[in-house]
Amino acid sequence: MMVRIDNLSKRFFSLRGEVAALRGLSLDIHDKEFFVLLGPSGCGKSTLLNLIAGLDSPTGGQIWFDDAVMADADRGVCLSPRKRNVAMVFQSYALYPHLSVFDNIAFPLSIAGMRKDEIAEAVREATDMLELADLLAAKPAELSGGQRQRVAIARALVRKPSVFLLDEPLSNLDAQLRASMRTELKSLQRRLGITTIYVTHDQVEAMSLGDRVAVLHDGRLEQTGSPQELYHRPANAFVGTFIGSPPMNLFEASWREADGRPHVEIMNMRLEIPLHLGQRLRALKGASFLLGMRPENIHAHFSTSSPLGLMATVRSAERLGRETLLHLARGEHRLTALTSAGDFTEGAEISVEFDWDHAHFLARSER
Ligand SMILES: Nc1ncnc2c1ncn2[C@@H]1O[C@H](COP(=O)(O)OP(=O)(O)OP(=O)(O)O)[C@@H](O)[C@H]1O
Ligand SMILES: [Mg+2]
Repeated sequence: MMVRIDNLSKRFFSLRGEVAALRGLSLDIHDKEFFVLLGPSGCGKSTLLNLIAGLDSPTGGQIWFDDAVMADADRGVCLSPRKRNVAMVFQSYALYPHLSVFDNIAFPLSIAGMRKDEIAEAVREATDMLELADLLAAKPAELSGGQRQRVAIARALVRKPSVFLLDEPLSNLDAQLRASMRTELKSLQRRLGITTIYVTHDQVEAMSLGDRVAVLHDGRLEQTGSPQELYHRPANAFVGTFIGSPPMNLFEASWREADGRPHVEIMNMRLEIPLHLGQRLRALKGASFLLGMRPENIHAHFSTSSPLGLMATVRSAERLGRETLLHLARGEHRLTALTSAGDFTEGAEISVEFDWDHAHFLARSER
């Protein structure tokens, strides 16, 4: 099932006044795709998922499943979740505490009036898949967080939905369980081939699960792409700094050409950069921009002078395990560099070098 979001907007009217939760958002989600909606708290992720589910209606725009319209604000069309054949899993598992695992999973089929033997068969299939077969008689209170989440997923999938929607389903689990549930969920989705839309504010989760990821910010779409594209070719400073950990350094920068050679000015220093990058600088509109450099692309060296790079002072060295994150200062400017050498001491003067082939030349945001 393909899902098309066309110029969708949603305004809420509350005691706070009017809130524009979505501001004209368009997206195409492919058939069988694992699609992730990523963004900070309050950017509109749950609002968008609820609109796709049919739990709420848009104030502008349309939602299509293949060639069928699910919601159209102009024509006042908004199909119910049941008619859309979607299934949704929430952060709070929302299981019925008085029902057994079997009855929880069977519930949506019972209310749909399915025959008892068919229900038993469907539940067996779902519980085999999610390794819950031994727990059919247990009540939710007797289950671990991970098991409860699996029951919630089984209950969602038992109806064979056309679109599977998940809103931060793993955020109540501890880090280790979350990682293993991620792997399970991804392989389950592959086997079932159900178009899946997954909401998270966790960029690591988004990058590891998504075939493609849409980055949302303040009700707008910042960029859509594969995890690789978002990491290596962020469209703007927001995506650049939101994705990647430790985060990308951003420098106020300007550039110009002297004697046919491109120069970049950052932190009150003029640096000559490789000739072939001139073209990318010329493509920017205007002379000022933001230079993005990931910490792993800034190299630190013990050296008292730096003919090509620049000097900085080590403020602190944060050990991350295999690598060390150096927090550096140059005058009032701050930067971070990742290094595998662990013996940098606080207060040391070092030279840093930029790997210009991994530089991001980002236009300033218009917002
Ligand atoms: N029913 C509502 N009434 C009024 N405002 C709402 C309502 N639901 C959401 N909003 C507002 O819309 C904006 C988007 O909310 P939404 O829940 O979609 O964010 P989110 O991206 O899911 O955030 P989080 O990561 O914290 O769950 C927020 O400013 C929120 O306060
Ligand atoms: Mg939310």
